Amino acid sequence: MIKEISVIGGGTMGNGIVTVFALNSSSVNLIEMDQEKVDKALSSIANNLSRMVTKGTITGSQMQKSLQRIKSFIGVKNTPITSDLIIEAIYENKDAKISIFKELQKLIKPECIFASNTSSISITELANSCRPDKFIGMHFMNPVPVMKLVEIIRGFSTSDETFRIIKDLANAVGKTPCEVNDYPGFISNRILLPMINEAIYTLMEGVAKVEDIDTVMKLGMNHPMGPLALADFIGLDVCLAIMEVLHNGFNDSKYRPCPLLKKMVAAGKLGRKSGEGFYKY
Ligand SMILES: NC(=O)c1ccc[n+]([C@@H]2O[C@H](COP(=O)([O-])OP(=O)(O)OC[C@H]3O[C@@H](n4cnc5c(N)ncnc54)[C@H](O)[C@@H]3O)[C@@H](O)[C@H]2O)c1
Repeated sequence: MIKEISVIGGGTMGNGIVTVFALNSSSVNLIEMDQEKVDKALSSIANNLSRMVTKGTITGSQMQKSLQRIKSFIGVKNTPITSDLIIEAIYENKDAKISIFKELQKLIKPECIFASNTSSISITELANSCRPDKFIGMHFMNPVPVMKLVEIIRGFSTSDETFRIIKDLANAVGKTPCEVNDYPGFISNRILLPMINEAIYTLMEGVAKVEDIDTVMKLGMNHPMGPLALADFIGLDVCLAIMEVLHNGFNDSKYRPCPLLKKMVAAGKLGRKSGEGFYKY
């Protein structure tokens, strides 16, 4: 039974994950790198909850109770040993993730399940750094408090019991879990990211302007957001990292990242989070 959850990283995804579990009566530990990052994450969580109060989906008292369930810690080494589930949500870098899991497996009680929110890195490879049968992918969608889907990814050695516990937990917090086997990009990003990459090629080759590309996909295909606006929302660095995983994982040139995407990341134009991507914010 999962009662205490530790979330490593309180950025875009981590603060949303903490919000969802705190709302659903779990005791949640937020682990960040320094006090400034903790404060930023806690303020985003408070904003997430107060938006729900304004919309009338929760009460002010539910918001206060949720905030009281959150404890914050600085540094992975201070993650509470009593955690039943660790959800890692640091930036998309395999070596950085592996080093965190190696450190955690020495600290945390053996029954604890380890999950990664990676968008594309192999769950089997991450699992090999610690306890493969108790390791699983929990791929939440952005923004986490709003989006219903969680891809639950079985690594090569993920046990049926680990899968069942995580699937039940996802259902218990109102999400819809989808079972996925470990392949580059899982389901969501294997299909979504090549579409975004192709939209960037369409722009680079001068086929159309940013707004027209997005309008075609919104009005012509009924997508709620155009692919270039969505790339800005996800973060162009995250998009590039996922394309590289698909390209290396399948060894197929159809997944080559668009040169314009690479150039924009090198220039620090990362989308919403840097203030500029395909659009200015
Ligand atoms: N952004 C998206 O739309 C999206 C969607 C689904 C999945 N993901 C995946 O979720 C993960 C997180 O992405 P994000 O967009 O939230 O990134 P982000 O850059 O917004 O946040 C990452 C956070 O991790 C923290 N962090 C880094 N190293 C740490 C450490 N050693 N200890 C504690 N905290 C540490 C950073 O301080 C930062 O706040 C990635 O694997 C990404 O691929 C992202």
